[in-house]
Amino acid sequence: MKQNADLATVARETLRNAYAPYSGYRVGAALETESGEVFSGCNVENASYGLTICAERTAAVKAVSAGHRRFHRLVIATEGDRPVAPCGACCQFVAEFGVDTMVYSVADKETRSWLLRDLIPYAFDGRVLEKAT
Ligand code: THU
Repeated sequence: MKQNADLATVARETLRNAYAPYSGYRVGAALETESGEVFSGCNVENASYGLTICAERTAAVKAVSAGHRRFHRLVIATEGDRPVAPCGACCQFVAEFGVDTMVYSVADKETRSWLLRDLIPYAFDGRVLEKAT
């Protein structure tokens, strides 16, 4: 099984592929599935700013496309001294597949971790849609 440090290395290396010409803010992510596979992601910006895709969602889309829906750990890497939490949109996006994922954020001087359910305690739960039609 991979160590957090291995996932942090994947996230940091993937950060270097970030396409962030507008914000200059590079983010890398490593998403580990329940079966131990790791999918990487970086933020991909667009001249039409709202089309930007965060690193976490890039990784999640890659993992789901490859057939994975259960995630054990999500590690994100950013530049700067202090770790940042994933944005609300990414929390909601990953919460679609379960809120028991551990989230680690690695910065130059510190690492923080949270349980996804604590980052988004009121995630919109798609099960309510079953009663909507
Ligand atoms: N960004 C991420 O990749 N993940 C987050 O959780 C927050 C923000 C990216 C989006 C954009 O390219 C840049 O950081 C600045 O918002």
